[in-house]
Amino acid sequence: MNDIDSLKEAIERSPDNIPLRIMLAGKYLHFGRLEEAETEFQTVLNYDSNHVKAKEGLAEIYFRRGRYSGVIVIVEELMKRDMASERMMVICAKSFVREKSIEEAQEVYEKILDENPDFEDKELDENLRMPSFDVDDDEDFDEEDPFGFGFVNGPDDKDFILEKPDISFKDVGGMEKLKEEIDLKIIKPLENADLYAAYGKKIGGGILLYGPPGCGKTYLAKATAGEIKANFISVGISDILDMWIGRSEKNMGYIFEVARRNTPCVLFFDEVDALGASRSDMKNSSGRHVINQFLSELDGIEGNNEGILVMGATNAPWHLDPAFRRPGRFDRIIFVPPPDNTSKEKILEIIMQEKPKEKIDYQKVVEHTKFYSGADLKAMIDIAIEDKLKIAFKTGIPEPINTDDLIKAAKRHHASTREWFNTAKNYALFANESGIYDEILKYIK
Ligand SMILES: Nc1ncnc2c1ncn2[C@@H]1O[C@H](COP(=O)(O)OP(=O)(O)OP(=O)(O)O)[C@@H](O)[C@H]1O
Ligand SMILES: [Mg+2]
Repeated sequence: MNDIDSLKEAIERSPDNIPLRIMLAGKYLHFGRLEEAETEFQTVLNYDSNHVKAKEGLAEIYFRRGRYSGVIVIVEELMKRDMASERMMVICAKSFVREKSIEEAQEVYEKILDENPDFEDKELDENLRMPSFDVDDDEDFDEEDPFGFGFVNGPDDKDFILEKPDISFKDVGGMEKLKEEIDLKIIKPLENADLYAAYGKKIGGGILLYGPPGCGKTYLAKATAGEIKANFISVGISDILDMWIGRSEKNMGYIFEVARRNTPCVLFFDEVDALGASRSDMKNSSGRHVINQFLSELDGIEGNNEGILVMGATNAPWHLDPAFRRPGRFDRIIFVPPPDNTSKEKILEIIMQEKPKEKIDYQKVVEHTKFYSGADLKAMIDIAIEDKLKIAFKTGIPEPINTDDLIKAAKRHHASTREWFNTAKNYALFANESGIYDEILKYIK
């Protein structure tokens, strides 16, 4: 206590001696005299509003007093300046947890783990590490079975991520050129691996589909699997990134493992741009680990990728790290445009196949669907069906859908691809390295 008195005296003599005030505040904090500590730290901040130690001190006080939003404000600012210590990030993550902002808490927690992979904390681990399971100890993490289902080696992993699609190319309306390209670039090599080997041509590498939303990228990938009766695994990149904090790399490895055990297999990565968000943008290094893991899995460094077709899809190819486009990776980039009129007719026919309908003049309907994606066509039909249902509820008679119903519905549904083209146009015009977006320009014309 004597210390405190002599420090106070010294400060009275030179009130703007900041190190002295910090020392005094530290002592107060140590003895639990939070109010006095707070005053001292505040005074320091009046002299120097960026003083890190003073901010840390305040955050510490707020945390002890349960003023969690105060903690968050301070630590977020420190993190922005890249000056947050582990302790600060920990109390920030805990503040988020206690305020029930789990997503934010996870973000901070991920940063902590990035910098210190061995970090452990009961409260944080319990709340954040395994969102869907009660595992409070790292020991329980099973490398072989990261999802905790207990059935990695059996046929049962089919239940989890493997699909056997029941659609094939015949269910994909139009897109003839795309189907041909996929056939040539990945199906043929898979089916004739020996021939390729005879010519010393290396197979492997993936296809990246890009284009506006709802135009059939996912659908086409699934149909590709169905076409060759292969298994299909579809993974959203954000799922991988979120699923297990700090463990995304293991998830990534696990998914490739399941694919390798179940060839032939189409391994489809949706939203690859989330991964690619060019590596430099990705401030946190756990993101980088996942990317590197992904790239080395793709390259087949981690295992043999024979019999695996890798496909990816994105709406924003311009956010993709160029490292993804190297040979052997997503080295073939295909634009999936909105369907042309013939494709639209086919798509409509396919969707209408099992619905009660009169003879429909699809050509006429299609005239009202400018800029429509496949998903828009589906939405339009849903609108028409809803209208019919409303009538049927009154009359009790389900009437078949006719041409006019569809046209009426088309007038009420707005095309969803326009906005995408507005954005895409700028990239195609101003960031068209090596002409990768020529297809977009061709299409806009
Ligand atoms: N060529 C097509 N033939 C038949 N149906 C299609 C076709 N294109 C799109 N569809 C229908 O539209 C729906 C949406 O397509 P899909 O989900 O594949 O779009 P996407 O390009 O993956 O979109 P996003 O970028 O939003 O993921 C599909 O489920 C399918 O029913
Ligand atoms: Mg999709």
